[in-house]
Amino acid sequence: MNFNLSEEHKMIRDAARDFAQNELLPGVIERDENQHFPNDLVKKMGDLGFLGIMVDPKYGGSGMDTISYVLIMEELSKIDASASVIVSVNNSLVCYGLEAYGTEEQKQKYLTKLATGEFVGAFCLSEPEAGSDATSQKTTAIDKGDHYILNGTKNWITNGGRADVYLVIAQTDRDKGSHGINAFIIEKGMEGFHIGPKENKLGIRGSDTHTLQFNDVKVPIENRIGDDGSGFRFAMKTLSGGRIGIAAQALGIASGAYELALKYSKERKAFGTEICNHQAIAFKLADMYSDIEAARYLVMRAAWDKDQGKNYDVSSAVAKLQASKVAMQHSTEAVQIFGGNGFVKDYHVERLMRDAKITQIYEGTSEIQKIVISRSITKD
Ligand code: CAA
Repeated sequence: MNFNLSEEHKMIRDAARDFAQNELLPGVIERDENQHFPNDLVKKMGDLGFLGIMVDPKYGGSGMDTISYVLIMEELSKIDASASVIVSVNNSLVCYGLEAYGTEEQKQKYLTKLATGEFVGAFCLSEPEAGSDATSQKTTAIDKGDHYILNGTKNWITNGGRADVYLVIAQTDRDKGSHGINAFIIEKGMEGFHIGPKENKLGIRGSDTHTLQFNDVKVPIENRIGDDGSGFRFAMKTLSGGRIGIAAQALGIASGAYELALKYSKERKAFGTEICNHQAIAFKLADMYSDIEAARYLVMRAAWDKDQGKNYDVSSAVAKLQASKVAMQHSTEAVQIFGGNGFVKDYHVERLMRDAKITQIYEGTSEIQKIVISRSITKD
């Protein structure tokens, strides 16, 4: 096993690190405070190829591997998890979903624009009464021959107000359960498609989260993704890749908090010495370092599984479960190391702590990851 990054991977990581330091860091506190979606930064990330990282260059993508994707996600998330979730959803849920399951026509029409950042995408599965229990969709898409009629509500949708293209999961035939679900491409501006108010969130406040309403939206049959009834498996497979992105985001939040706490502990003095010389702080730093290293290997393992064409349903769930736990635990420890300063916005760690929480909730809560893992390890 080779644990070293290639020179190309190091260059990609360094480019993302430079972008995060030079472009994301200035203004990150204000974007969080004002819940400001960074349109200008999304454009720049598109220009750098960060919005279609794994997409084939023939569709406008960067043609990189999943290892590159998680390296970019970690670096962006160290500074701004609101920006990185835009990248994660666009790459893993929307671009991947279309590239893996879409028709050539759908790829030419939508993927080429999503991969370059000309369009931003959103993935719409969660509903007021069907978050974790994804087969219990209330949104319906009634088959009318050459089109479907879509009705229902989706909520907590990342990029919800800003997106141009929405992949929407809906129930076509309730009697068929998970086999009666389809995925559709919905464009902003379709008649009957309404964007509800923006959510006022604890963390990732610079990202744009909305409830969406579909009232008799006429969806052409050519906007269905995959065969009739394949929407639930489409959603599950796509979310497995999404969990690698969120695991990398959690890793970035944890390592960002750790790096800030380490630097601070070498500068801040108490009782006549830098606080890193006190064992109470040094042991916290040692725990942070080793837990983050462990999470990093799990994230890399899941990315590697995907790149090798292996099944990554379980390794992505393991990576997300562990990395999000580490993000929550150690961003909180970072605040503790900063003491009173940690409670103040200027030092960044309180934002990382608030941002960490969502990594244990979205794209499947920690409990959902445990369902995926336990079903796998207990089956015959
Ligand atoms: N790949 C392919 N097929 C899969 C699959 C996968 N990863 N997982 C399940 N399936 C298939 C099963 O094989 C089964 O097929 P058969 O009927 O042919 O056997 C079918 O799908 C149904 O599977 P289950 O019986 O396992 O389904 P379930 O109802 O028990 O649910 C679950 C399983 C894991 C709990 C699933 O519902 C789940 O992952 N829920 C969480 C959903 C989620 O992550 N929501 C977040 C949405 S996105 C978001 O956060 C918003 C955003 O903007 C970021």
